[in-house]
Amino acid sequence: MTSESPAPLIDPFGRAVQYLRVSVTDRCDLRCVYCMAEDMSFLPKADVLTLEEIDRLCSAFVKLGTRKLRLTGGEPLVRRDVMQLIRALGRHIASGDLDELTLTTNGTMLFKHAAGLYEAGVRRINVSMDTLDPHKFQAITRWGKLDKILGGIQAAKDAGLKIKINCVALKGVNDDEIHRMVAWCGEQGFDLTFIEVMPMGDVGEGARLDQYWPLTQLRAELETRWTLDESDHRTGGPARYVRVRETGQRVGFITPLTHNFCESCNRVRLTCTGTLYMCLGQEDAADLRTPLRMSDEDGPLIDAVRDAITRKPKGHDFLIDRQHQGPAVPRHMSVTGG
Ligand code: 5AD
Ligand code: SF4
Repeated sequence: MTSESPAPLIDPFGRAVQYLRVSVTDRCDLRCVYCMAEDMSFLPKADVLTLEEIDRLCSAFVKLGTRKLRLTGGEPLVRRDVMQLIRALGRHIASGDLDELTLTTNGTMLFKHAAGLYEAGVRRINVSMDTLDPHKFQAITRWGKLDKILGGIQAAKDAGLKIKINCVALKGVNDDEIHRMVAWCGEQGFDLTFIEVMPMGDVGEGARLDQYWPLTQLRAELETRWTLDESDHRTGGPARYVRVRETGQRVGFITPLTHNFCESCNRVRLTCTGTLYMCLGQEDAADLRTPLRMSDEDGPLIDAVRDAITRKPKGHDFLIDRQHQGPAVPRHMSVTGG
């Protein structure tokens, strides 16, 4: 095979894998109750790929046809010198080999990095923010300060970044705020995605069943106040979008538990230790760190990636019910990246 134009990655179900999500760290400066336990033990630094290794891995995927790269965590911006990685990956945007370089962030560091992100070639970001109420924000994140996030979001807006807000729908927590969120995002010019809470990792509360709020109910509540026009906007991901006629902004719904969205899945996920998960909801994974470190040539790495893609499963099997209260997938979201 020539290294100039290698065959693209196509999985056994004919899906082209063109979207790589990379968790650059499992660490986070917040402790959202649905995501992490308060006293998390994080990965030892020695197991974590260096920024140069992450660059090499991402660049190998770009060579294999990846068009979109999303950095996640944990919180990607808490990793030391992560802006160096982001600037380096920006070369693939500049060359046209990559359509989009983006990240999902909790917003705590945006005030510092927003302008740098834009300069590196980032044009859109997702910011996780479940509430506009400072007290609730602190309760959900265990120690976050809403002011700082709002300041960061403003900085991102000023820097020219397009913003989408991710809001995890939590029964009894932010269910009384959804109209306010839609109105605020409308005023700010942000898209908004509601996410159904997913059973991932042990967060120590045993409260998943209480927090679970089906988005069918959330959507019905939205429709009492807003006109939701169906939109055919698709990202290849799990979100279904509508346009809110009154604000002109999009609202998305990510419903991993109530809908099967796997048939259009175009993505794979890489952890900060170099483990590739072919599906968010399945345990099967491929170790890419070993072939990466085995040789300075990308041959073994590319072989390992191709082999992994042949094992991409058809779909996942999330479940929350009274018999299955524990996590369906034992790893935390901060390991695989949302
Ligand atoms: N269920 C649903 N969403 C989650 N996130 C983290 N953990 C969970 C969970 N258990 C969200 C974050 C972020 C996105 C990447 O994933 O809030 O918006
Ligand atoms: Fe951190 Fe995001 Fe998890 Fe909250 S949901 S603890 S911000 S990684």
